[in-house]
Amino acid sequence: MQTELNGSPVVKTETFYDDVIAGLRSTPKHLNSKYFYDANGDKLFQELMNCAEYYPTKCELEIFSEKTAEICKAFISGGDSFDLIELGAGDAMKSTCLLEYLLAQKADFTYLPIDISTNVIANLNSELPATLPGLKINGLNGEYFDMLKEAASLLDRRKVVLFLGSNIGNMPVNEATNFCRELRKHLSEGDMVLIGIDLKKNPKTVLAAYNDKGGITKRFNLNLLERINRELNADFDISKFDHYPTYDPETGACKSYLISLDDQLVTINKKEKVRFLKDEYIYMEISQKFTALQTEQMAASAGFRPLNLFFDNKKWFVDAVWMAE
Ligand code: AVJ
Repeated sequence: MQTELNGSPVVKTETFYDDVIAGLRSTPKHLNSKYFYDANGDKLFQELMNCAEYYPTKCELEIFSEKTAEICKAFISGGDSFDLIELGAGDAMKSTCLLEYLLAQKADFTYLPIDISTNVIANLNSELPATLPGLKINGLNGEYFDMLKEAASLLDRRKVVLFLGSNIGNMPVNEATNFCRELRKHLSEGDMVLIGIDLKKNPKTVLAAYNDKGGITKRFNLNLLERINRELNADFDISKFDHYPTYDPETGACKSYLISLDDQLVTINKKEKVRFLKDEYIYMEISQKFTALQTEQMAASAGFRPLNLFFDNKKWFVDAVWMAE
């Protein structure tokens, strides 16, 4: 089992094991995309963000570099000192833009990145203070709401929560709305959220982003099977699974599946046998796309008032500032 970091619990191997077994015992079979991000998955996601077809990161970076002052002004105008909490910080590349500006403005804040990846948090804690002198940072490794609670218990002051990169898209619309309600419950009136949401656009553009020619998305999905092999002592033959991405322009649901290319039997931890039929699928991930109107409705029904919408030039992506009311 993994050790503890910063006094926060990390994802337990038992939880991973239980979730994998439950998912593969279900009909239809599914795995949770939150498990994509082990060290290798983090690296593949970095590669993905740099590939030509994957536009969301580029759009959001454009927003952050062109609208830095306006975004930060919204944060600062909410009151005095604050905790800047980032859900799923990753390499914090996008937020670095904002952190730099806030430091230059002498804003009084502590940066609390939260991530499911042990790896990511260890790197941020050790590297960010060197890149951004004067930054107060306290990385938290674990699930979003557990760590949000932990963050609230550390210091009782105004909170600004960053939820970037369309991570909200990893949930279908209803679940995303429930997530925003849950987030609202962990906040107080006047706290803020900056949420990055990928918008509906030409279906070919969306599909290409999840079906890149270099096959990075495919490797990204297959890596979860390899992770199960490595960490849970399983024997998936990844050459017998293919990546199948879909996008439905009607619902905005972009989904990816792994298709079993053969009848096959996979053994996990010596005793758990999982049978796959030829052409059977494992549902791996949803990357939901929204309309701007849907984002406003989601805010309202979760108890937030939308303050600002920041779009990229193509209007493919939005970063919205919401205030808890
Ligand atoms: C990190 C969840 C926003 O859904 O676009 C990228 C992950 N999956 N390519 C997304 C992902 C396949 C990404 N998020």
